[in-house]
Amino acid sequence: MLKTTVKALACAVTIGLAGIATAAEPIVIKFSHVVAEHTPKGQGALLFKKLAEERLPGKVKVEVYPNSSLFGDGKEMEALLMNDVQIIAPSLAKFEHYSKAIQIFDLPFLFDDIEAVDRFQKGPVGQELLASMEDKGITGLGYWHNGLKQLSANKSLLEPKDARGLKFRVQASAVLEEQFKAVRAVPRKMSFAEVYQGLQTGVVNGAENPYSNIYSQKMHEVQKFITESNHGLLDYMVITNTKFWNGLPDDVRTELRAIMDEVTVDVNKHANELNERDKQSILAAGKTEIQYLTPEQRQKWRDAMAPVWKKFEAEIGAERIKAAQEANQQ
Ligand code: LMR
Repeated sequence: MLKTTVKALACAVTIGLAGIATAAEPIVIKFSHVVAEHTPKGQGALLFKKLAEERLPGKVKVEVYPNSSLFGDGKEMEALLMNDVQIIAPSLAKFEHYSKAIQIFDLPFLFDDIEAVDRFQKGPVGQELLASMEDKGITGLGYWHNGLKQLSANKSLLEPKDARGLKFRVQASAVLEEQFKAVRAVPRKMSFAEVYQGLQTGVVNGAENPYSNIYSQKMHEVQKFITESNHGLLDYMVITNTKFWNGLPDDVRTELRAIMDEVTVDVNKHANELNERDKQSILAAGKTEIQYLTPEQRQKWRDAMAPVWKKFEAEIGAERIKAAQEANQQ
C-alpha cells in the first residue's frame, strides 16, 4: 500500500515537473528560406528573430535556416503545410499551385517601378491575394520586396532576338516559362540552389534575378553580361501555417503580427539599397558587363513578351491586371 502510494506520488511529481518544464518551453518557430543572409529576405528573417526574441523573451524562439539549409524550393511549401517549418517567404513566382491569381506578379513589364508594386500590394487586390490561401491552410503575413529582375547570359542581350535559342533558368512558374518562350528562348525550371552550377556547367545559358541574388550566389562569375532590363518582379509573400498561427496564444500572435509588420516596413525600405550595393559589388568584381537598354530596345522586349498577359488573363483576372496597371499611374 505504502509502496503504491509512494510510486503514485513519484509519478505525480514527475508529471508535474514535466508540466512545468513544458509550460516554460518557448514556442519554436522555424523560418526557412533559400537565399543568403545579406539579401533583403535574409536580413528580414534575422530581424524578425531578433525582435521576436527581444519582445517575447522565453516565450518564443526563432530558428532561421538560410540558403536552402533546411528546405529548398521544391520542399518548403509542403514542409509548411506539414508544420515542419512555421514561416517561409517564397518568391511570388512559387504559388501557382495554391493561387492562380498570384501569378499576376510574374507578368513581364507589369510594374514600372517598385513604388508601383508597393501601392498595388498595399491596395485592395494585393491584400485580397494575401488572404487568398486561407482555405488551403496558408496565411499570408506580408509582402517583402527583393526587387526588379535583370537578365543575364554569356552573350549580350540587347534585343529579344539575342535570347533566341538560349536556355534560361526559370523559377517554377508557368508565366515565366511563357515569358521566355515568347522571345523564342528555352525555359528550364530549376531550384534556386542549383542555379549557379547550372550556369557554370552550361545546363542553362542565362537567368533572371535581382542584383542581390546574382551577387550573393556569385552568378556574375559565370555570366559575362547582365542587361539592366527591370522586366519583371521578384518579391516574396511571407506565409505561415494557418493552424499553427491560429493556435498561438492570443498575446503571442498579436505581438508577432506587430513585429512582422515592423519588419516588413524595414525590409521594403532597404531592399533597393541592398540591390544597389550588390550592383556596385558586381561592377567592382569586374567579371561581368552591365548593359543598359535604350527606350527603343526596352520597348522591343515589352512588345515581344506582351502576349503572355493575354495567355494568363483568364486565370489571373482582367480586373486584377487593370488594378496593377493603375498602380503605375498613381
Ligand atoms: C529564385 O528561385 O530565383 C528566387 O525565388 C530565390 C529567392 O528566394 O529570392
